[in-house]
Amino acid sequence: PLVPMTAFLPRAKAEGFAVGQFNMNNLEFTQAIIEAAEEEKSPLIFGASEGAIKYMGGPDVVVALAKVFADRSSVPVALHLDHGSSFDMVMKCIRAGFTSVMIDGSHLPLDENIALTKKVVEAAHAVGVSVEAELGKIGGTEDDLSVDEEDAMLADPDEAIRFWEETRVDALALAVGTAHGLYKGEPNIRFHIIEKVAQNIEAPIVLHGGSGVPDEQIRKAIRLGVGKINVNTENQVACTETVRKILAEKPSLYDPRKYLGPAREAMKEVVKQKMRLFGSSGKA
Ligand code: G3H
Ligand code: ZN
Repeated sequence: PLVPMTAFLPRAKAEGFAVGQFNMNNLEFTQAIIEAAEEEKSPLIFGASEGAIKYMGGPDVVVALAKVFADRSSVPVALHLDHGSSFDMVMKCIRAGFTSVMIDGSHLPLDENIALTKKVVEAAHAVGVSVEAELGKIGGTEDDLSVDEEDAMLADPDEAIRFWEETRVDALALAVGTAHGLYKGEPNIRFHIIEKVAQNIEAPIVLHGGSGVPDEQIRKAIRLGVGKINVNTENQVACTETVRKILAEKPSLYDPRKYLGPAREAMKEVVKQKMRLFGSSGKA
Protein backbone atom coordinates (compact mmCIF):
# COMPACT_ATOMS: atom_id res chain seq x y z
CA PRO A 1 0.00 0.00 0.00
CA LEU A 2 0.98 3.65 -0.29
CA VAL A 3 2.46 5.09 2.90
CA PRO A 4 3.28 8.61 4.14
CA MET A 5 6.92 9.76 4.01
CA THR A 6 7.03 9.51 7.81
CA ALA A 7 7.22 5.73 7.29
CA PHE A 8 10.89 6.12 6.28
CA LEU A 9 12.17 9.72 6.52
CA PRO A 10 12.97 9.71 10.27
CA ARG A 11 15.15 6.63 9.73
CA ALA A 12 16.82 8.29 6.73
CA LYS A 13 17.89 11.28 8.82
CA ALA A 14 18.97 9.08 11.75
CA GLU A 15 21.03 6.72 9.58
CA GLY A 16 22.40 9.31 7.17
CA PHE A 17 20.82 8.41 3.86
CA ALA A 18 18.33 10.18 1.60
CA VAL A 19 15.20 8.90 -0.12
CA GLY A 20 14.71 10.01 -3.71
CA GLN A 21 11.58 11.64 -5.00
CA PHE A 22 11.26 10.72 -8.66
CA ASN A 23 8.55 12.43 -10.64
CA MET A 24 5.86 10.46 -12.45
CA ASN A 25 5.09 11.99 -15.81
CA ASN A 26 3.45 9.05 -17.53
CA LEU A 27 3.19 5.23 -17.40
CA GLU A 28 6.79 4.60 -18.48
CA PHE A 29 8.24 6.93 -15.81
CA THR A 30 6.10 5.21 -13.19
CA GLN A 31 7.22 1.73 -14.25
CA ALA A 32 10.88 2.71 -14.49
CA ILE A 33 10.86 4.27 -11.00
CA ILE A 34 9.08 1.44 -9.18
CA GLU A 35 11.11 -1.27 -10.91
CA ALA A 36 14.31 0.49 -9.88
CA ALA A 37 13.09 0.74 -6.26
CA GLU A 38 12.15 -2.92 -6.24
CA GLU A 39 15.51 -4.06 -7.60
CA GLU A 40 17.42 -1.76 -5.25
CA LYS A 41 15.19 -2.61 -2.25
CA SER A 42 14.83 1.10 -1.63
CA PRO A 43 12.02 3.16 -0.14
CA LEU A 44 10.53 5.43 -2.78
CA ILE A 45 8.68 8.71 -3.18
CA PHE A 46 6.61 9.14 -6.32
CA GLY A 47 6.39 12.88 -7.03
CA ALA A 48 3.49 14.29 -9.01
CA SER A 49 3.54 17.98 -9.92
CA GLU A 50 0.33 19.85 -10.66
CA GLY A 51 1.36 19.95 -14.32
CA ALA A 52 1.92 16.19 -14.41
CA ILE A 53 -1.37 15.54 -12.59
CA LYS A 54 -3.19 17.57 -15.22
CA TYR A 55 -1.29 15.82 -18.02
CA MET A 56 -2.14 12.36 -16.70
CA GLY A 57 -5.84 13.15 -16.29
CA GLY A 58 -6.32 14.22 -12.67
CA PRO A 59 -5.39 13.19 -9.11
CA ASP A 60 -7.55 10.04 -9.27
CA VAL A 61 -5.65 8.73 -12.30
CA VAL A 62 -2.31 9.38 -10.61
CA VAL A 63 -3.45 7.65 -7.40
CA ALA A 64 -4.77 4.63 -9.32
CA LEU A 65 -1.51 4.24 -11.20
CA ALA A 66 0.74 4.70 -8.16
CA LYS A 67 -1.42 2.47 -6.00
CA VAL A 68 -1.55 -0.52 -8.33
CA PHE A 69 2.26 -0.62 -8.49
CA ALA A 70 2.75 0.14 -4.78
CA ASP A 71 0.32 -2.63 -3.79
CA ARG A 72 2.34 -5.15 -5.78
CA SER A 73 5.64 -3.91 -4.45
CA SER A 74 7.63 -5.05 -1.44
CA VAL A 75 9.14 -1.62 -0.75
CA PRO A 76 7.45 1.33 1.01
CA VAL A 77 6.13 3.85 -1.51
CA ALA A 78 4.78 7.35 -0.79
CA LEU A 79 2.73 9.32 -3.32
CA HIS A 80 3.63 12.98 -2.89
CA LEU A 81 2.12 16.13 -4.39
CA ASP A 82 5.11 18.13 -5.67
CA HIS A 83 4.99 21.94 -5.26
CA GLY A 84 1.32 22.12 -4.25
CA SER A 85 0.22 25.68 -4.90
CA SER A 86 -2.88 25.99 -2.72
CA PHE A 87 -4.79 24.54 0.23
CA ASP A 88 -7.49 23.59 -2.25
CA MET A 89 -5.15 21.52 -4.43
CA VAL A 90 -3.66 19.82 -1.36
CA MET A 91 -7.13 18.81 -0.17
CA LYS A 92 -8.11 17.49 -3.62
CA CYS A 93 -5.02 15.29 -3.68
CA ILE A 94 -5.53 14.02 -0.13
CA ARG A 95 -9.16 13.14 -0.92
CA ALA A 96 -8.01 11.27 -4.04
CA GLY A 97 -5.55 9.18 -2.00
CA PHE A 98 -2.17 10.94 -1.99
CA THR A 99 -0.26 9.93 1.14
CA SER A 100 1.99 12.99 1.21
CA VAL A 101 1.81 16.62 0.08
CA MET A 102 4.07 19.58 -0.46
CA ILE A 103 2.65 23.03 0.10
CA ASP A 104 4.89 25.54 -1.65
CA GLY A 105 4.33 28.92 -0.03
CA SER A 106 7.88 30.02 -0.78
CA HIS A 107 6.69 33.02 -2.82
CA LEU A 108 4.73 34.36 0.19
CA PRO A 109 6.04 36.60 3.00
CA LEU A 110 7.38 34.42 5.85
CA ASP A 111 4.38 34.83 8.16
CA GLU A 112 1.91 33.99 5.39
CA ASN A 113 3.98 30.95 4.37
CA ILE A 114 3.92 29.81 8.02
CA ALA A 115 0.14 30.37 8.31
CA LEU A 116 -0.65 28.48 5.09
CA THR A 117 1.72 25.64 5.97
CA LYS A 118 0.25 25.30 9.47
CA LYS A 119 -3.24 25.02 8.00
CA VAL A 120 -2.06 22.25 5.65
CA VAL A 121 -0.20 20.40 8.43
CA GLU A 122 -3.30 20.44 10.65
CA ALA A 123 -5.54 19.02 7.92
CA ALA A 124 -3.00 16.52 6.55
CA HIS A 125 -1.74 15.16 9.86
CA ALA A 126 -5.34 14.59 11.00
CA VAL A 127 -5.64 11.97 8.25
CA GLY A 128 -2.10 10.56 8.43
CA VAL A 129 -0.69 12.40 5.42
CA SER A 130 2.87 13.77 5.60
CA VAL A 131 3.76 17.36 4.69
CA GLU A 132 6.72 19.12 3.07
CA ALA A 133 7.02 22.91 2.87
CA GLU A 134 9.51 25.27 1.24
CA LEU A 135 11.52 28.24 2.38
CA GLY A 136 13.54 30.56 0.17
CA LYS A 137 13.09 30.54 -3.59
CA ILE A 138 14.58 27.73 -5.68
CA GLY A 139 15.69 28.93 -9.11
CA GLY A 140 15.05 27.37 -12.52
CA THR A 141 11.97 25.98 -14.24
CA GLU A 142 9.69 23.05 -13.49
CA ASP A 143 6.43 22.80 -15.38
CA ASP A 144 4.55 26.09 -14.95
CA LEU A 145 6.81 27.11 -12.08
CA SER A 146 9.61 29.42 -13.11
CA VAL A 147 11.98 31.50 -10.98
CA ASP A 148 14.78 33.38 -12.71
CA GLU A 149 18.21 33.64 -11.15
CA GLU A 150 17.76 37.14 -9.77
CA ASP A 151 14.58 36.12 -7.97
CA ALA A 152 16.09 32.94 -6.54
CA MET A 153 16.65 33.59 -2.86
CA LEU A 154 18.57 31.52 -0.37
CA ALA A 155 16.79 30.37 2.78
CA ASP A 156 17.80 32.10 6.01
CA PRO A 157 18.83 29.48 8.62
CA ASP A 158 17.24 31.25 11.60
CA GLU A 159 13.99 31.74 9.71
CA ALA A 160 14.09 28.08 8.69
CA ILE A 161 14.45 26.94 12.32
CA ARG A 162 11.57 29.20 13.38
CA PHE A 163 9.52 27.99 10.40
CA TRP A 164 9.94 24.37 11.45
CA GLU A 165 9.22 25.03 15.12
CA GLU A 166 5.96 26.75 14.23
CA THR A 167 4.79 24.37 11.52
CA ARG A 168 6.29 20.98 12.48
CA VAL A 169 6.43 19.83 8.86
CA ASP A 170 7.78 16.33 8.17
CA ALA A 171 10.32 17.56 5.61
CA LEU A 172 11.60 21.05 4.88
CA ALA A 173 12.75 22.15 1.42
CA LEU A 174 15.33 24.93 1.57
CA ALA A 175 16.72 27.04 -1.24
CA VAL A 176 20.45 26.42 -0.81
CA GLY A 177 21.72 27.06 -4.34
CA THR A 178 20.34 24.21 -6.42
CA ALA A 179 17.92 24.90 -9.29
CA HIS A 180 15.22 23.07 -11.20
CA GLY A 181 16.19 21.90 -14.70
CA LEU A 182 19.64 21.76 -16.29
CA TYR A 183 22.58 23.63 -14.78
CA LYS A 184 24.93 25.87 -16.66
CA GLY A 185 28.09 24.68 -14.96
CA GLU A 186 27.95 23.43 -11.38
CA PRO A 187 25.54 24.47 -8.65
CA ASN A 188 26.94 26.47 -5.76
CA ILE A 189 25.41 24.73 -2.75
CA ARG A 190 25.59 26.64 0.54
CA PHE A 191 26.33 23.74 2.84
CA HIS A 192 26.43 25.91 5.97
CA ILE A 193 22.67 26.53 5.62
CA ILE A 194 21.97 22.80 5.49
CA GLU A 195 24.25 22.13 8.45
CA LYS A 196 22.88 24.80 10.75
CA VAL A 197 19.22 24.04 10.07
CA ALA A 198 19.60 20.25 10.18
CA GLN A 199 21.22 20.41 13.61
CA ASN A 200 18.35 22.43 15.00
CA ILE A 201 15.22 20.74 13.62
CA GLU A 202 13.98 17.15 13.77
CA ALA A 203 12.79 16.91 10.16
CA PRO A 204 15.14 16.11 7.29
CA ILE A 205 15.95 18.80 4.76
CA VAL A 206 14.81 18.38 1.16
CA LEU A 207 17.06 19.16 -1.78
CA HIS A 208 15.11 20.18 -4.89
CA GLY A 209 16.72 20.32 -8.30
CA GLY A 210 18.72 17.14 -7.67
CA SER A 211 19.44 16.55 -11.38
CA GLY A 212 22.97 17.36 -12.48
CA VAL A 213 24.37 17.92 -8.99
CA PRO A 214 27.85 16.29 -8.79
CA ASP A 215 27.93 13.10 -6.70
CA GLU A 216 30.37 14.51 -4.15
CA GLN A 217 28.07 17.46 -3.41
CA ILE A 218 25.12 15.09 -3.00
CA ARG A 219 27.08 12.95 -0.51
CA LYS A 220 28.10 15.99 1.49
CA ALA A 221 24.53 17.36 1.57
CA ILE A 222 23.26 14.02 2.87
CA ARG A 223 26.01 13.88 5.49
CA LEU A 224 24.91 17.29 6.75
CA GLY A 225 21.19 16.46 7.06
CA VAL A 226 19.47 16.22 3.67
CA GLY A 227 17.06 13.26 3.83
CA LYS A 228 15.03 13.68 0.63
CA ILE A 229 16.28 14.57 -2.85
CA ASN A 230 14.06 15.39 -5.83
CA VAL A 231 15.02 14.25 -9.31
CA ASN A 232 13.06 14.80 -12.48
CA THR A 233 15.10 16.42 -15.26
CA GLU A 234 17.70 13.63 -15.49
CA ASN A 235 14.91 11.12 -16.18
CA GLN A 236 13.37 13.44 -18.77
CA VAL A 237 16.73 13.79 -20.50
CA ALA A 238 17.37 10.02 -20.45
CA CYS A 239 13.90 9.37 -21.88
CA THR A 240 14.12 11.96 -24.64
CA GLU A 241 17.70 11.15 -25.66
CA THR A 242 16.80 7.47 -26.04
CA VAL A 243 13.70 8.21 -28.11
CA ARG A 244 15.60 10.69 -30.28
CA LYS A 245 18.40 8.20 -30.96
CA ILE A 246 16.08 5.31 -31.83
CA LEU A 247 13.88 7.39 -34.12
CA ALA A 248 16.96 8.79 -35.89
CA GLU A 249 18.34 5.27 -36.43
CA LYS A 250 15.03 3.77 -37.55
CA PRO A 251 12.87 6.37 -39.32
CA SER A 252 10.33 3.74 -40.40
CA LEU A 253 9.45 2.75 -36.81
CA TYR A 254 5.85 3.46 -35.76
CA ASP A 255 5.18 1.27 -32.69
CA PRO A 256 5.64 3.55 -29.62
CA ARG A 257 6.57 0.55 -27.48
CA LYS A 258 9.70 0.13 -29.58
CA TYR A 259 11.09 3.47 -28.42
CA LEU A 260 9.28 3.97 -25.10
CA GLY A 261 10.40 0.56 -23.83
CA PRO A 262 14.11 1.39 -24.22
CA ALA A 263 13.42 4.90 -22.82
CA ARG A 264 11.94 3.23 -19.75
CA GLU A 265 15.07 1.09 -19.35
CA ALA A 266 17.28 4.19 -19.57
CA MET A 267 15.26 5.94 -16.85
CA LYS A 268 15.36 2.86 -14.64
CA GLU A 269 19.16 2.91 -14.82
CA VAL A 270 19.21 6.62 -13.81
CA VAL A 271 16.96 5.93 -10.81
CA LYS A 272 19.00 2.91 -9.68
CA GLN A 273 22.23 4.95 -9.79
CA LYS A 274 20.61 7.71 -7.73
CA MET A 275 19.34 5.25 -5.12
CA ARG A 276 22.86 3.89 -4.67
CA LEU A 277 24.29 7.41 -4.48
CA PHE A 278 21.64 8.49 -1.95
CA GLY A 279 22.35 5.41 0.19
CA SER A 280 18.70 4.29 0.15
CA SER A 281 19.46 0.98 -1.62
CA GLY A 282 18.84 -1.91 0.76
CA LYS A 283 16.92 0.29 3.24
CA ALA A 284 13.41 -0.90 2.36
O1 G3H B 1 10.39 19.15 -7.42
C1 G3H B 1 11.06 18.50 -8.24
C2 G3H B 1 12.49 18.60 -8.31
O2 G3H B 1 12.97 19.63 -7.54
C3 G3H B 1 13.12 18.27 -9.62
O3 G3H B 1 14.26 19.00 -9.96
O4 G3H B 1 14.09 18.47 -12.38
O5 G3H B 1 16.07 19.66 -11.48
O6 G3H B 1 15.71 17.24 -10.97
P1 G3H B 1 15.09 18.57 -11.27
ZN1 ZN C 1 11.17 21.13 -6.87
